[in-house]
Amino acid sequence: MHDGSGRIVVQNLSKQFGAVNAVQNLSFTVEPGSVTGFLGPNGAGKTTTLRMLLGLVTPTSGMATINGRPHSQLGNPARVVGSVLENEGFHPGRTARNHLRVYAAAIGVPDRRADEVLGLVGLGSAADRKAGGFSLGMRQRLALATALLGDPQVLVLDEPTNGLDPEGILWLRNFLRSYAREQRRTVLVSSHLLNEVEQLIDQVVIISQGVTRYYGPLEQLRKSQQSRVLVQPADPSALVKALQDNGITGVSPTPDGRVAVAGSSVQQIGDIAAKAGIAVYGMQEEHADLERMFFQLTQGQYTGGAPGYPPHQAQYQGPPPGYPPQQHYQQGPPSGPQQQQQYWGGPQQ
Ligand SMILES: Nc1ncnc2c1ncn2[C@@H]1O[C@H](COP(=O)(O)OP(=O)(O)OP(=O)(O)O)[C@@H](O)[C@H]1O
Ligand SMILES: [Mg+2]
Repeated sequence: MHDGSGRIVVQNLSKQFGAVNAVQNLSFTVEPGSVTGFLGPNGAGKTTTLRMLLGLVTPTSGMATINGRPHSQLGNPARVVGSVLENEGFHPGRTARNHLRVYAAAIGVPDRRADEVLGLVGLGSAADRKAGGFSLGMRQRLALATALLGDPQVLVLDEPTNGLDPEGILWLRNFLRSYAREQRRTVLVSSHLLNEVEQLIDQVVIISQGVTRYYGPLEQLRKSQQSRVLVQPADPSALVKALQDNGITGVSPTPDGRVAVAGSSVQQIGDIAAKAGIAVYGMQEEHADLERMFFQLTQGQYTGGAPGYPPHQAQYQGPPPGYPPQQHYQQGPPSGPQQQQQYWGGPQQ
């Protein structure tokens, strides 16, 4: 039997498809009571991880469990975990209600549950319409309704915001938040766009190239944002030295010949430069937003990268220049909720 905890544990999970390391030694824990975002760029290994969690792909090594058990040992899994994965189709000629009744019968819940879940996802008035004529957003809602049929303790949704309009995203946010918080359920949602799920999630697991890059509360990531000053000096190395000699930490040269300084004011930097006799041609205060942080953490998924950004970074090398110190980055794998807090620290190997 499963332990009824509502906990998802991914431990040292890896999947290799031929020469492709889709997921490499991934570890994280998701607890009930909050919504966790599972984020990474296209091809990062999100869907593969979720498929392993749901027993649809066999891991090369490591484990993924729900309520302490692999999916195959959950007994009646639809009562424990509901899921929506990419590219799930519907019979186009079937009405929404009939689609749900087919699934309800398969998992042993009464027909009336079909109408209940249609009401929950706001599709009550479309119950008799054929799924083939649904918009993308309506199909997302119908897929969610299907996942909810068994009243599961754990919800796993792959890119659930795809196709939703702003109103739909707001609705999904309110729905998932109350599902997780008020009913103490576990919700894991993947996305390749942080800003699409930022309003939705409390915890975040960020992966890139199959490896964990950040793992912890979103609030912590948000707090770790700090402004930095980008200085354009006549002599960047002389300015770096002058700042360091004056006890300024968080100084790093940028690839375009400027110097990024975190945690100091424009005045402080200007005074030090003036005293050291270094000409400064410009200073710019910059505030990192979450999206940029996400980009920095996941850069290098593809060689080349975006114009104006640092080049490919194959391995995790700590935070980007001028951005937060390493204590905000968590090293896995935690083996339980208590241990989770102790893992703030270095990079994931
Ligand atoms: N069945 C498969 N056979 C071979 N390679 C696969 C298979 N499934 C996934 N991959 C590869 O594994 C890597 C991770 O793919 P995955 O679909 O898990 O990424 P993702 O993070 O979900 O991306 P997206 O944001 O585009 O949905 C990719 O390089 C992909 O090509
Ligand atoms: Mg995917």
